[in-house]
Amino acid sequence: MLGAKTLLLSVFVMYVYCEEDPIINDNSAGTLDDSDSNSRYVITMDKGEENIDETISDQNKKEESKIPMEEEQVSPKPERKDVEEYDDDEVVSPVKRQEQLNVTLKSGHKMPLLGLGTYRLGTATYRITKEALEIGYRLIDTAKIYEASRKETSEQAIGKAIQASGVPRSEIFITTKIMPDLFGKTEMRKAVQNSLRALQTDYLDLLLIHYPDCGGDPYCKATGTFVEGWNHMAELVEEGLIRDIGVSNMFMEEVEKIWVETTAPISVVQNWFDPYYQDRSVRMLASKRGIMYTGYSALGVGWVDDGMKKNPVLTDSTIKQIADRRNCAPSDVILKWAITRGVAVIPGTTKSAHLRMNFNSLKVKLTEDDLMIMDSLDNKIKPLNDYGKQVSGGFGFGSILGGLLNLGKSVGSLFGFGGSSSGITGGEL
Ligand SMILES: NC(=O)c1ccc[n+]([C@@H]2O[C@H](COP(=O)([O-])OP(=O)(O)OC[C@H]3O[C@@H](n4cnc5c(N)ncnc54)[C@H](OP(=O)(O)O)[C@@H]3O)[C@@H](O)[C@H]2O)c1
Ligand SMILES: *[C@@H]1O[C@H](CO)[C@@H](O)[C@H](O)[C@H]1NC(C)=O
Repeated sequence: MLGAKTLLLSVFVMYVYCEEDPIINDNSAGTLDDSDSNSRYVITMDKGEENIDETISDQNKKEESKIPMEEEQVSPKPERKDVEEYDDDEVVSPVKRQEQLNVTLKSGHKMPLLGLGTYRLGTATYRITKEALEIGYRLIDTAKIYEASRKETSEQAIGKAIQASGVPRSEIFITTKIMPDLFGKTEMRKAVQNSLRALQTDYLDLLLIHYPDCGGDPYCKATGTFVEGWNHMAELVEEGLIRDIGVSNMFMEEVEKIWVETTAPISVVQNWFDPYYQDRSVRMLASKRGIMYTGYSALGVGWVDDGMKKNPVLTDSTIKQIADRRNCAPSDVILKWAITRGVAVIPGTTKSAHLRMNFNSLKVKLTEDDLMIMDSLDNKIKPLNDYGKQVSGGFGFGSILGGLLNLGKSVGSLFGFGGSSSGITGGEL
């Protein structure tokens, strides 16, 4: 299929370009030919699929041959730059601010590949969002249920930060998300109008279905199915209140259900993605359908949410070795690797130094070997909650059809939000 090839090619071109120039500026990167994407059918085997498989297995072969990795000659080794050493001089110039790497979504509007996530910011939401916009971030990811404080929602704090930043609304890409209790027709409309008011704007760039169902959360009462919610979102796109719509925390089967049963195109899927949890099946489906993939918790904090005491990704010795060789931090390696693989990222932080560092991660230069070593870290450990159970079957007709006929547990329920298995309370994900 042309779309998948285009994506692979764009990612390759992007990578090569990146070696030449610290700031990547390829607006077409990740743009997918969607001639195929508008048709409605259950997946059939076609040439493109074989191409994807070939590419992946070739890649795996290469990965195997590269491990363990060899030390490269880096001499003399430059001083390693620590977080604290990033100062105001590191802030990119106003000219470079325009050069953010974007992808074009199904609506034709552009989405930056690097943005700010605001889930864990709490009372730092206003300060960090304003500072992010000043530094040059142009995508802000929030959700209706994120809170800045007991008195203020994240959306309200972000609305104020945008006003205070002086950055024109038209330059900013705002993502927010909606839970199943607002899937009903009147609930959806009211909720979107509330979000617009809180964010002090008259359109949303992207609205995501936050979770496909309530997952057993006693405080969440669904007012419709996710397919109904999707159709209600699509009506608001028609009215111009929203530009693009997408989904989050969905498995292939759920993404396919929307694809098959509705007509509004899916622009984005946002799922948990990090070096140990690379979500390959959903990413492949997304690429096939011309859907842009965004990875959340890319820096590994998903493992802490999953019950681990420490984030194992930021301290991974292999990632640290790459970081040392490239004279940067593990977080830089992870973010640059993800983006080079066509995954949009939205790291969040309460620290100004990390905010700058993450924005500048695009400047880091990685080699093809580095990237393949990162690819090979997938499944290094397994989640306590069996998120991946359904997605191991690959990309074939059988597994998709099977999934459609027998929808399994959603990520929402597996995450156990609402205070069940994973220990996450209050459904604040
Ligand atoms: N759709 C969903 O259901 C869903 C779920 C989860 C998240 N999200 C979205 O995705 C965004 C990101 O996900 P996340 O917050 O789970 O994870 P994340 O942003 O990948 O990681 C956040 C953690 O990493 C630390 N950190 C950030 N930059 C760092 C750096 N350069 N070096 C070292 N540590 C660094 C932060 O600590 P410090 O504050 O100390 O820097 C924080 O503890 C969220 O804000 C939210 O917008 C969506
Ligand atoms: C990328 O998208 C952002 C947000 O919509 C926008 O502000 C910026 O101008 C775009 N950059 C380019 C080079 O198109």
